[in-house]
Amino acid sequence: MANQLLKEHVLFRHRDIKDIHKIDVYLAHDGYKALERGLKEMTPDDVTNEVKASGLRGRGGAGFPTGVKWSFIPKNLFPKYIVVNADESEPGTFKDREIMESNPHQFIEGVILCAYAVGAETCYIYGRGEFWTLFHGRLQEAIDEAYEKGYLGKNILDTDFSCDMYLHLGAGAYICGEETALLNSLEGLMGQPRSRPPFPAVAGLYAKPTVVNNVETLANVTPIILHGADKYRQYGTEKSPGTKICSLSGRVNKPGNYEVPLGTPIRYLIEELGGGVIDGKEVKAILPAGASSSNMGADKIDTPMDYESMAAAGGMLGSASFIILDETIDAVWAAEKNVKFFKHESCGKCSPCREGTFWLTSVYRKLREGYGTKKDVELIETIINQMEGNCFCLLGEFVVPGVRTSLALFRDEYEQLASEENEADQPQKDLIHTFF
Ligand SMILES: Cc1cc2nc3c(=O)[nH]c(=O)nc-3n(C[C@H](O)[C@H](O)[C@H](O)COP(=O)(O)O)c2cc1C
Ligand code: SF4
Repeated sequence: MANQLLKEHVLFRHRDIKDIHKIDVYLAHDGYKALERGLKEMTPDDVTNEVKASGLRGRGGAGFPTGVKWSFIPKNLFPKYIVVNADESEPGTFKDREIMESNPHQFIEGVILCAYAVGAETCYIYGRGEFWTLFHGRLQEAIDEAYEKGYLGKNILDTDFSCDMYLHLGAGAYICGEETALLNSLEGLMGQPRSRPPFPAVAGLYAKPTVVNNVETLANVTPIILHGADKYRQYGTEKSPGTKICSLSGRVNKPGNYEVPLGTPIRYLIEELGGGVIDGKEVKAILPAGASSSNMGADKIDTPMDYESMAAAGGMLGSASFIILDETIDAVWAAEKNVKFFKHESCGKCSPCREGTFWLTSVYRKLREGYGTKKDVELIETIINQMEGNCFCLLGEFVVPGVRTSLALFRDEYEQLASEENEADQPQKDLIHTFF
């Protein structure tokens, strides 16, 4: 796939090298050399320090520096665990799946390096339930190949380091991507978030020190250890180094995953890689991080896709799942879809999220069914004001920016749905009818 800004893919190497998912092809293209270098030439601290020097930031959404996270793991507590977050449930995100399916060994190698760096001997890869075929097919096959060649198991590459890797499927719940809910689910408990502190680095899986990292994050570790932090920094910006896989969807001609250097403008993703908007329509809004993101107006299309610039432009990079709305899309309909998603996925543990998403869906439905009043538009604002900062975990908080920016950018569309007739005739048209 053409990508003018990259000389070659760092993560999506399968797009340059045919059949790299097979271990022999991977080995013929520097496969497992990073592991060899790590285990034979570097101490665990050296590996952590190289990852720190690379400036790699977590690709699961928050962008937390990966090497710093690893350095929080206590050295003298055992056992320790690596848990890979392969839940990938954010609407519009489909990048981790492509890595695991098409370039699995680079990812597995990164996981083993992470285990070596923090002194863990057990790694779990937790995937969403829908990854059944992948987890029982390509990914398990790659793990089996790694065992056969001695990159997993006892005394890897004749060193003292041993490491096992297991796949685990959840039942398919968005909340199980939140790291503490994921740990509960992996332990066989209900997938609901835990209070923090303690953080997983200190008391994670089975209350033991645990690194939780995203698939794409760990796939980056392999080239960092193989080529060094400096080379890794050839792409990206000072504070957001490396490449990022963007999942592009919505009203574009060529939706798909695209790997670009961090700092590439959104316009390049939409117009050059994505082939522009369908039927040459205008961009109406950009949701840069799936359902969890703010609506960025079309005037933000030249924003560089890095953590700082996206935040400064009122958005967030998150997992870089860009959903593009064009001028034909009804903004209230789009916001309602996201709110419904969050209501469905709310785990119910805390009332601001459980009740807030319930009330939001009810009011959106009332508006869209033609029973809405101006007070309902204000009510939406009241509900998100009460949710903001009061939810137990970020799932509930994720609802707020999308609704708030939808209202700010497209309030006229909301008000068109709010009929004065309804206001006069039925001051508080019974909401109950919209509940069930
Ligand atoms: C509701 C919710 C869903 C999340 N879903 C995912 C997910 O599917 N994959 C992921 O890697 N991180 C997800 N995260 C972020 C994780 O909690 C965690 O920050 C991440 O796995 C850490 O890995 P990283 O540092 O490599 O990014 C989610 C967070 C929340 C609050
Ligand atoms: S915000 Fe509360 S109800 Fe919503 S998912 Fe998190 S813990 Fe559950």
